[in-house]
Amino acid sequence: MSAPSSDAIFPVPASWQRRAWFDNAAYRRDYQRSMHDPQRFWAEQAEHLDWFHHPTRIRDVSYGPEDIHIRWFEDGVLNASVNCLDRHLLERARKAAIVWEGDDPAESRTLSYAELHAEVCRLANGLKSLGICKGDRVTVYLPMVPEAAVAMLACARIGAMHSVVFAGFSAESLAGRIRDCDAKLLITADEGMRGGRRFALKANADEALKRCPSVQACVVLRRTGGEVAWLDGRDRWYHELVDHQASNCEPETMNAEDPLFVLYTSGSTGKPKGVLHTTAGYLLAASLTHRYVLDYHDEDVFWCTADIGWVTGHSYIVYGPLANGATTVMFEGVPTWPDASRFWQVIDKHRVSIFYTAPTAIRALIRQGDAPVRATSRKSLRLLGSVGEPINPEAWLWYYNVVGEQRCPIVDTWWQTETGASVIAPLPGAIATKPGSATLPFFGVEPVIVDEDGRVLEGECEGRLCLRDGGPGMLRTLYRDHDRFVQTYFSACPGLYFTGDGARRDKDGYFWITGRVDDVINVSGHRLGTAEVESALVAHPEVAEAAVVGYPHPVKGQGIYAYVTLKANTQPSDELRNALGQWVRKEIGPIAAPDQIQWASSLPKTRSGKIMRRVLRKIAAGDTTDLGDTSTLADATMVESLIDGRRTIA
Ligand code: PRX
Repeated sequence: MSAPSSDAIFPVPASWQRRAWFDNAAYRRDYQRSMHDPQRFWAEQAEHLDWFHHPTRIRDVSYGPEDIHIRWFEDGVLNASVNCLDRHLLERARKAAIVWEGDDPAESRTLSYAELHAEVCRLANGLKSLGICKGDRVTVYLPMVPEAAVAMLACARIGAMHSVVFAGFSAESLAGRIRDCDAKLLITADEGMRGGRRFALKANADEALKRCPSVQACVVLRRTGGEVAWLDGRDRWYHELVDHQASNCEPETMNAEDPLFVLYTSGSTGKPKGVLHTTAGYLLAASLTHRYVLDYHDEDVFWCTADIGWVTGHSYIVYGPLANGATTVMFEGVPTWPDASRFWQVIDKHRVSIFYTAPTAIRALIRQGDAPVRATSRKSLRLLGSVGEPINPEAWLWYYNVVGEQRCPIVDTWWQTETGASVIAPLPGAIATKPGSATLPFFGVEPVIVDEDGRVLEGECEGRLCLRDGGPGMLRTLYRDHDRFVQTYFSACPGLYFTGDGARRDKDGYFWITGRVDDVINVSGHRLGTAEVESALVAHPEVAEAAVVGYPHPVKGQGIYAYVTLKANTQPSDELRNALGQWVRKEIGPIAAPDQIQWASSLPKTRSGKIMRRVLRKIAAGDTTDLGDTSTLADATMVESLIDGRRTIA
């Protein structure tokens, strides 16, 4: 994929230079300080958190090549839930912490800081009563309801690690993630609601738990009242568990480097990686970027449309906003239900001033025309954010002109599950923007671009994006797999963290992310490993072999294109194509269902048996004028038949 580009420059509006946290000179000064005197810079920033014991050892980071370790604020002691709740009680007890907007526009709910604190404490006490202790893992498989945030914070309160699994994942995916971290407890709901439809959760949980002996208890939230199966002794209703608990719970004292959560994300192999974040560095990165990149001020109403199951939901629905004492909007539904005005109606209803969403949602809404946007006021909006995938300049400009009416700057924030928080993004009062560019690094972050051989490139260039330093929000390891952590991120370019993305740097030093350069595809801002989809496909009894690649998709950014070779006596058919789509939905979840399946009599392999994905990507994209060097293919003639097969696909 080539970098989106646009020559237009959008200067910082004069009013923003005055009121934002940083103007250009202040950004440049503090960025230099963060690079040249990181100990002092971060010691000052650490004061944004509340500590039981202030840290004196600030930064101990080595990205190798020999020793690889990342430690921040090592001797500090704190509790993340205290930072998100207790410290606001004196001044903001009655301020709305979470404004929940249900799938049904008639349903909404507000929890003040005092109420959220009490809810978190009750559940924390409930978890303790079930034997959950500091260091235990708790898997959270919940829809977008306030209890999802309550569950995360209750874990943080007692020092248990949460592992949130996206509610759209299948029983199989859930089981894999529970087993990987040996969770002791699962918190789920009867069902979830999205776009007017119910979807099963407890039924998936029951299926998953058959294969998860580590789970001793399953706490079930009643969301829809739908029928559920029940296993006495294991299953507990959420409301019964919390009803009689005290609304105060002494917070566990946590070392800065004690784990806060694990979050699974796709990599190049079939097995998701358990990205581990620790307490202080992550919380500081999430809250600082929420304040400075998303320009949060006390009077704002902040809405991040992500799901709690992804890192964006962790950092910008829960930890960042709540650490800053913000009002955070949580939305259960979808942008197009009951109609395509829904996002903008919610903005008007709750007077949202900062709105943070993904390019895929913007592109889907562009298709509905301007009228659904224009039917709403959006006067409360003052800043727009984008995250999750490269934003094409057309989508950027529509977001800017139609949604923000040229009044609201756009912050395009580049980051990853691994970085914990935004690492390349404009500070809106400081940095002129260019549609399609994530612009410049945040404090403490040093991005570099390297060529295929790992050599660092200078000036204007294009290559692989690495970080010489990613700041305090970086992952510390992959849960129980430190070797894979070192291998995945630090072996491609010794001494640097490799992001898996490609990027270009322009003459102004701005970064333009070009997309993944590994075998990860980004479907609607959701990261999926091609190997995961392939192993789901080959698990089907009729499938002999499968190769999956990403291809350009007008709404999703990338779609999933699968080449499937069937077993000898199986005939291809439309029924089988549909069945394979259903199969992948069941194995992984609806987000992983292929957009296109092409039957292939065989796959292009090198003489050593490696599938030549580069060729498959080109054919899927319909770009077959230059397939590159195919001389190492064992059978070059089959490429022609794949190109012919591509023509039969819509
Ligand atoms: O390829 C980049 C893309 O999303 C990947 C990270 O995915 P995940 O860990 O699921 O986190 C998504 C939310 C932070 C990156 O490697 N990506 C994320 N933000 C952007 C982006 N690509 C271009 N521009 C962005 N703003």
